[in-house]
Amino acid sequence: MSTLFVHGIGLLVTNELGARGARPDDPLGAIPDAALIVIDGNVVWAGPQADAAPQVARLLQGDVERVDAGGRAIIPGFVDSHTHIAFAGDRSAEFVARMAGERYAAGGIRSTVAATRGASDEQLRATLQRFERELAAQGTTTFEVKTGYGLDVENEERLARLAREVTDEVTFLGAHVVAPEYADDRDGYVDLVTGPMLDACAPHSRWIDVFCEEGAFTVDEARRILTAGQSRGLGARIHAGQLGVGDGVRLAVELGAASVDHGTYLSDADVEALAGSDTVCTLLPGVEFSTKHPYPDARALLAAGVTLALASDCNPGSCFTSSMPFVIALAVRELGMTPDEALWAATAGGARALHRDDVGRLSPGASADLVLLDAPSHVYLAYRPGVPLVRRVWKQGVELR
Ligand code: NIG
Ligand code: FE
Repeated sequence: MSTLFVHGIGLLVTNELGARGARPDDPLGAIPDAALIVIDGNVVWAGPQADAAPQVARLLQGDVERVDAGGRAIIPGFVDSHTHIAFAGDRSAEFVARMAGERYAAGGIRSTVAATRGASDEQLRATLQRFERELAAQGTTTFEVKTGYGLDVENEERLARLAREVTDEVTFLGAHVVAPEYADDRDGYVDLVTGPMLDACAPHSRWIDVFCEEGAFTVDEARRILTAGQSRGLGARIHAGQLGVGDGVRLAVELGAASVDHGTYLSDADVEALAGSDTVCTLLPGVEFSTKHPYPDARALLAAGVTLALASDCNPGSCFTSSMPFVIALAVRELGMTPDEALWAATAGGARALHRDDVGRLSPGASADLVLLDAPSHVYLAYRPGVPLVRRVWKQGVELR
């Protein structure tokens, strides 16, 4: 049995409404002057330090690792529910051109496809492992990875299989754009995605996604693809409303998708549909930062009662950050989210978007995925943008270094 006792926590964010020692109406369930007990990778007790003594006597036995947080904050590890980190190649020149005024277009995806097809398994594996370390160093303890830069059976299978080595949350995105070989045969490509490609990728994947947008896939194509995935047991998610308003959001709600991602352009009907559903809206403000598009209207979504997640969308084209603290800073500065709302969306919201109950919170029963901040509260993530405030990180009670 391995036991971890963290004490001297200035502020412990549990994300448990009604947590002992937190304000009863605080969605973050934030406990000042707190302590936390972890046994075999799971949180078994969280509460005010003043109440810890009997728990310590009861629960702490054998080999106990003690950590003094020194008055700093502990938050749940970030849950990044949207990344495209399985790729090869470099598109920094595209970024330079965009900053000089060029518009972002889905077509750039094909240049990453060419580079990814040409990379070896070892190169792709090394890239994924590098991102895994980069994410952990910035406090991300759960992350999703999409395929989508292979676009043929062999390469999509390879990306799903290699992604599965670093995460349980693999998303099959064969429907990222139509593969170049099928430029004149869209239907043939959708047949490939819903047939042999799905057969090859489903065993490695938990989710299926479609880029439903002008220049990528239509809503009818998206329906075919997502329902094919669902019939194979994959959960649906969708890229929609990134470049303009479309019907993707309503399709996702109709199909009971876990999440609609981007949501930069949404109609009132889209917001209403999301509000009446269990579908999370995942905002990716790093994309707006990196493409100079307008930011999504988070306040309208929150006012309507939509559940929001924040994610990085880390990819070589539209947004090449893996930093959830940066995403939180953008959400606060540019989306008008409060620091509390942004932290919740980057942790519990991401967990909801992945249908995960074991992460994104630090209440009893949760995985002990902890981030010790070099700050007295999570507010500092937005208040001190760009400053590396992630001091120590544990996943399932084991420190990542
Ligand atoms: O989420 N929108 C589609 N896919 C990515 C961008 C991919 C790329 O440009 O390489 C996104 O923004
Ligand atoms: Fe994306």
